[in-house]
Amino acid sequence: MANQLVFPDGFKWGAATASYQIEGAAHADGKGLSIWDTFSHTPGKTLHGDTGDVACDHYHRFESDVRIMADLGLQTYRFSISWPRVLPDGVGKVNEAGLDFYRRLVDELLANDINPAVTLYHWDLPQVLEDQGGWLNRETSSHFAEYARVVGEALGDRLESIITLNEPWVSSFIGYTTGHHAPGKQDLGDGVIAAHHLLLGHGLAVESLRSTTNSCDLGITVNLSVAVPASTSELDVKVASRHDDQLDRWFLDPILKGSYPESLLEEYVGIVGDDFIHADDMATISADIDFLGVNYYTRNILAARDEAHEPWTRKTTLSEFGDFNDVTPHETPRTTKDWPIDPDGLHDLLVWITESYGKIPLYVTENGAAFIDYVDQSGAVHDSQRVDYLRDHFAAAHRALASGVDLRGYFVWSLFDNFEWADGYSQRFGLVFIDYHTQERILKDSARWYKSVISANGVDLA
Ligand code: FCB
Repeated sequence: MANQLVFPDGFKWGAATASYQIEGAAHADGKGLSIWDTFSHTPGKTLHGDTGDVACDHYHRFESDVRIMADLGLQTYRFSISWPRVLPDGVGKVNEAGLDFYRRLVDELLANDINPAVTLYHWDLPQVLEDQGGWLNRETSSHFAEYARVVGEALGDRLESIITLNEPWVSSFIGYTTGHHAPGKQDLGDGVIAAHHLLLGHGLAVESLRSTTNSCDLGITVNLSVAVPASTSELDVKVASRHDDQLDRWFLDPILKGSYPESLLEEYVGIVGDDFIHADDMATISADIDFLGVNYYTRNILAARDEAHEPWTRKTTLSEFGDFNDVTPHETPRTTKDWPIDPDGLHDLLVWITESYGKIPLYVTENGAAFIDYVDQSGAVHDSQRVDYLRDHFAAAHRALASGVDLRGYFVWSLFDNFEWADGYSQRFGLVFIDYHTQERILKDSARWYKSVISANGVDLA
């Protein structure tokens, strides 16, 4: 057993997906349009003009897809609900046909002993709400709470957990500041306001869910990473800490402490004023949650931007938010997203959260990697890089448990290859390969390996 890492009893193993990335059926059964339908159909916004119109056609194939999950032994499955499928106008009249899809999916999961973990918002805002300002409009937060209530009443007592938002940093700053994601706005102030309204929506949704469901756990998922300063120089340490303020503390502080980090607040208020924060907002946002969901993919080594570094540094999306560059060495192994592979970063992050915010129950709600996968002549997909990636990250999570982190479970991103947002279908993150021409599902080696991890509740390091 020396090379076997055993996880605690009851540790939950799962996999994750999101509605727009897998469902397809963009116009089926009364579904309204989302900002991603609009964005992906706008020329130049996604690679090759790819859209989620069909994606993995999961909407029509969910029964056989659940059989695949059962075959892998998944104990829990994280999926998201498409807001415009349930409420085509964003508010008001419920589209029962859309809600029925999720009722049937939940039935099927429970019949196969798989616990459903539902994300309410994985970026597909109803387009009608975007037309009224989207997340820049404070009313969107109340509409979100109303949508949460509809889902809570329909499904709440049969769900293991509800995650209000997925990665509000991405929804706000990539959707409203860099414009790489829907709705494609490009303004720093807009990102700040959108982030606040998302957080407010989270708090209001927790309130409305507490009064409609009492059996399921409530939480939120954030994308986090603690940067490594390239040196001990004051400037490098400062830019790394500023990165953590923007990505991590800007979301964790309000949710878990009821305030924004002071120095960044000052800077943002200097740009947009402070009217967007109303008197009770911070109390609402810091409503009690039962767990925090953490999405982790990579960690960057950051240096203050300086001419001498320029020729060999890379600008990342994050560089748009500060005077820093990613100076992670070129030889560091990377995924096809160009993300450096850094399992220790997961350990350090989980420990950092626990040290900074106390011992709260955590789930890794996403972790995984895209590589160049292909079906060989025998019909197999030998994705040994993904097996290595997952093994090393599971081992890092295990070390975090040993360091006293209250980690309850782990969701691999993703169950299936799927529509990877602006990258279209070019990035394959799945445990299961999708042939987009035939919709055939093929278990990659990593899926079979993950099955053995789940059944042993442990990882073989040999
Ligand atoms: C996360 C998203 C998820 C997927 C992975 C690769 O930021 O939550 O939908 O795109 O990245």
